Amino acid sequence: MTDSIRILMCAPDHYDVDYVINPWMEGNVHKSSQERAVEQWSKLHHILKELAQVDLVAPQKGWPDMVFTANAGLLLGDNVVLSRFHHPERQGEEPHFKKWFEDNGFTVYELPKDLPFEGAGDALLDREGRWLWAGYGFRSELDSHPYLAKWLDIEVLSLRLIDDRFYHLDTCFCPLTGGYLLYYPGAFDSYSNHLIEMRVPAEKRIAIAEADAVNFACNAVNVEQSLVMNKASDSLKQQLATKGFKLIETPLTEFLKAGGAAKCLTLRITEPVLDYVHANEPIESRIIHLEGHLLDAGTMNQALDLIVENGGSFKVLNFNLGIERQSTSAADVRVSAPSHEAMEDIMGQLIDLGAITPEKEVCDIITETCTKAGVAPDDFYVTTIYPTEIRVNCEWVLVQNQRMDGAIVVAKTEQGVTAKCKILRDLEVGDRVVVGVEGIRTARKAEKREKRGGEEFSFMGAGVSSERRVELVVEQIAWELRQIRDRGGKVLVTAGPVLIHTGGAQHLSSLIRQGYVQGLLGGNAIAVHDIEQALMGTSLGVDMQKGVPVRGGHRHHLKVINTVRRYGSIAETVEAGVLTQGVMYECVKNNVPFCLAGSIRDDGPLPDTQMDLIKAQAEYAQLLEGTDMILMLSTMLHSIGVGNMTPAGVKMVCVDINPAVVTKLSDRGSIESVGVVTDVGLFLSLLVQQLEKLTSPYQVA
Ligand code: ARG
Repeated sequence: MTDSIRILMCAPDHYDVDYVINPWMEGNVHKSSQERAVEQWSKLHHILKELAQVDLVAPQKGWPDMVFTANAGLLLGDNVVLSRFHHPERQGEEPHFKKWFEDNGFTVYELPKDLPFEGAGDALLDREGRWLWAGYGFRSELDSHPYLAKWLDIEVLSLRLIDDRFYHLDTCFCPLTGGYLLYYPGAFDSYSNHLIEMRVPAEKRIAIAEADAVNFACNAVNVEQSLVMNKASDSLKQQLATKGFKLIETPLTEFLKAGGAAKCLTLRITEPVLDYVHANEPIESRIIHLEGHLLDAGTMNQALDLIVENGGSFKVLNFNLGIERQSTSAADVRVSAPSHEAMEDIMGQLIDLGAITPEKEVCDIITETCTKAGVAPDDFYVTTIYPTEIRVNCEWVLVQNQRMDGAIVVAKTEQGVTAKCKILRDLEVGDRVVVGVEGIRTARKAEKREKRGGEEFSFMGAGVSSERRVELVVEQIAWELRQIRDRGGKVLVTAGPVLIHTGGAQHLSSLIRQGYVQGLLGGNAIAVHDIEQALMGTSLGVDMQKGVPVRGGHRHHLKVINTVRRYGSIAETVEAGVLTQGVMYECVKNNVPFCLAGSIRDDGPLPDTQMDLIKAQAEYAQLLEGTDMILMLSTMLHSIGVGNMTPAGVKMVCVDINPAVVTKLSDRGSIESVGVVTDVGLFLSLLVQQLEKLTSPYQVA
């Protein structure tokens, strides 16, 4: 026996499963046998007495889980942080454990009332004493970790638990003598797994499979080379043996019914302090302010979810609920994150949701100078489609050229401060680029639940009503198109070749003729198939009247490409009187600019197709300037390209037969986008019909 090691246990006199506070207890209320529990506990007690000195705390009637002394508190040297149980079912244990600690000469630290922390069940010292691993996610709050660091003066590494079967850190994680670690990776989020891998070298990690994990193999008591646990598979036994551990199995099935095993039934009370080990404070917290239709637009959910999904934790400090349908709500939320990087990540996303940091007035954004052309500083803020403002000299400055996936470049000139979105490749040496998340805010329009994520209408989808719904959207789009045309606005169409195959060419041609389209963006294919149809009556070799493939039709599109190449360009083919109808013809005739962006699969290409993609992107961007509405017609490629260049506020109508494409495009979180799941040819024919029905305000009957 090693006298210097002391362990605290509590006899199971009053043990039972009386309530359900973890998944193991479900279906087990009053199902454990008192007799067998006593027998199993006594065996464990006996084994441990051979390895260490075992102290006992008196069991208390009415507190059945008190046997799990691991949850009494967290000890280091003479200090103990007393547990604050998450569930009221266990809170009554606190004074009894507190008394035992005080009677035994420990200095007891107590956490603020509303800050749960469940002791050594959720905080495990590295067995070499180098740092403390602390769990959060179910029972203990991340915000309790800075207190542990401060009071125990040790570095705390926070690990987020994500599987509710492993609700306490000690159910899935067990640091061992010699720097080894026995653990179940599936219980942790990816950031935590990364942290574990950074600290524990591969040869020291003993990752177990789920089958062992559910037998509580990680819930083991480790004293020097001995390891006491409920049960281990043969392969685990072997692994432990090769690492020099002596495994002692002892059944603890009665305690498994309450969600605990060997380690939970013990608390190591001798944890030596190493004088070279000290606290650091990696956990950051800050306060954010959110305003808008926080509940009915789902913003609050989104914000809180993203904090947790990115490994953070939160506390809502204030919530002023807007009571009327039209009124907005406001909330202050304290956000905590396990590291600076995680905090930046979370804050970046919160800013995109419209959050601002009210605390200390940030007077200036942080910038770094671009030192290599086309390359931003590492930590650059990535822009969104939303109007963005940055703090400069304690004032908000609106960012120009707003687009997605850019960097913000700030310039101070005599006229004042300007801020602009730039894409990476346009960055120049010397540009001041905004980094981090300090002093940035985005304005999201107060959006309503029924509008969130764009609207989606299904036509070909089942149900009678959807047909009527498509008609309704088309009516609305027609009305808007008319408005835009009549006030001299700008509508762009981005379209794929499917538009031609589905018979949409004549309708799009008619829209162009009537002045509804101010620009066309697409690829090589839409032009090729449009001209093929105009010259040969087929689209990709299929007869457009009869709908059947024409003999040798697969060569048609190459013939067409060849013809246009002979004349030099689409416009020249029109001028030569060879091309006399179709979408491209109408563009040329009506002076509607177009840009055809090339791709790897293009045949030809047509002389008009821009195969230099950087130039094509620039031409797209130029054509998109000042656009009021974009019709995205069955092309995922070009529509996404266009979407990325477009700021919020531009109405986007996305039509595709594939609902996934529509969802992807209308899910930019922009309320201006509308998705229509239908055949694009059909959509265009409905649209043209609707436009005919509308009487122009200038055509008084
Ligand atoms: N029924 C107890 C609870 O849910 C079991 C505690 C197990 N203890 C532990 N350190 N994992 O709180």
